[in-house]
Amino acid sequence: MPALAEWPDWPEFIASDVPPHEEEQYKEYKRQIVKEYGEENIRKAWLKTCEDLKSITLELSKRGSSVIPELQFSEVQDLSEEKVKELKRIGCFVIRGVISPAEATAQFERLKQYVSENGDSLYAWPANNPSVYRLFWSPTQQALRAHPNQLLVQRILNGFWHDATQTTSPDPLTYADAVRIRPPGKPFYGLGPHIDAGSLCRWTDAGYRKVYDSIFSGFPEEFDAYNLATRKDADQAAFEGSAHSTVFRSFQGWTALTGTRPREGSLLLYPYVGTVIAYMLLRPFFTPPKEDIMDASRWTLDLDNGWFPGTHKEDSQYLSRGSHPHLRLEECLVHIPEMDPGDTIWWHCDMCHAVEVEHSGQHDASVAYIAATPTTPVNVRYIKSQLERFLAGMPPADFPGGINETNLKGYLGERGIPNGKAGRDAMGFHLLKTPEAPTVA
Ligand SMILES: [Fe+2]
Repeated sequence: MPALAEWPDWPEFIASDVPPHEEEQYKEYKRQIVKEYGEENIRKAWLKTCEDLKSITLELSKRGSSVIPELQFSEVQDLSEEKVKELKRIGCFVIRGVISPAEATAQFERLKQYVSENGDSLYAWPANNPSVYRLFWSPTQQALRAHPNQLLVQRILNGFWHDATQTTSPDPLTYADAVRIRPPGKPFYGLGPHIDAGSLCRWTDAGYRKVYDSIFSGFPEEFDAYNLATRKDADQAAFEGSAHSTVFRSFQGWTALTGTRPREGSLLLYPYVGTVIAYMLLRPFFTPPKEDIMDASRWTLDLDNGWFPGTHKEDSQYLSRGSHPHLRLEECLVHIPEMDPGDTIWWHCDMCHAVEVEHSGQHDASVAYIAATPTTPVNVRYIKSQLERFLAGMPPADFPGGINETNLKGYLGERGIPNGKAGRDAMGFHLLKTPEAPTVA
């Protein structure tokens, strides 16, 4: 499967849109980083990263979706070291059959019934094509999130990360997110190429910047995208914005409730997470030449503008063809493979992704957003608050303005949490017993 046949009309970030009153502050953010790491190192990193992108973009443009590894659920407990290394380097993969097709389909029917019975009370966006339901505690979501197979996969994926400080663990926590039922036919432009987990804070928050130390130091090839010892301290929500998740998700993910082929309202990913995030981080420091923009050596390090292309502090980090040309997004943003009900797709929290604009299928494309969320001090705090809000009938703090779901027909509350103690632990019930988050051995 090649990349997009036709590039959608997504926003291009080709001219500075920094608010004038913030220009000086934004310039200062850049100056601080250059002061800390040195011009030469930033330039060295830029050239190395652009060079590395040449082979990556060549491979992606040739191989397309086949770069995305596909595994069966039965394989995940027995992955070789070499396989894990490959999955980590690419940073995204499909795990099939985490939920059986029959069970996933039954859960989809249950969800549709729940939505139709409560339709007048529900909120979904976008307004012209309601697809993403701000529902967090439907019986379907509860059943899927804490399904034994789901928690097992999440634990394994959390374990792809390492933490020398030993203040975290791969024990999965349940991050309650929304659910999508996207009808066919209507285009959806809302989620062009972007990276979640904050935007400007990757440069401005000292803890977050530390994650990318090797990149700014001139050694992007040494960047370890799976170091939880530093990542756990990154403040993804340093700037207020409804797009930012407070929790750290080792992998974002969704679980398919319906079968979906490419171009049927599915997902696009840009594999090889480490190089792409390095490029995105270095790009704001450079100004393109008038000609030959693909020649990275002709770009000049420029600290006299405050523009971070595609960066708006309240929103996720966006990328575009014009602002990030070396990514060759048109050729390298690839469709995920065909998904069956119960299959899952996972992508690293630093990975560029987009939602397909077109849905040319014949039926609804439905997914539950279910991520892998490890136990970290920040996550424990959030999950504890999420649980308190759940018990009080309120939506999670990352999704303000929702409805009280306890009034919905078919709402199960605590009774809807499956999988006994494991399911309840993922929801954080064990955390309510202690005033402070427990230290993880
Ligand atoms: Fe996203």
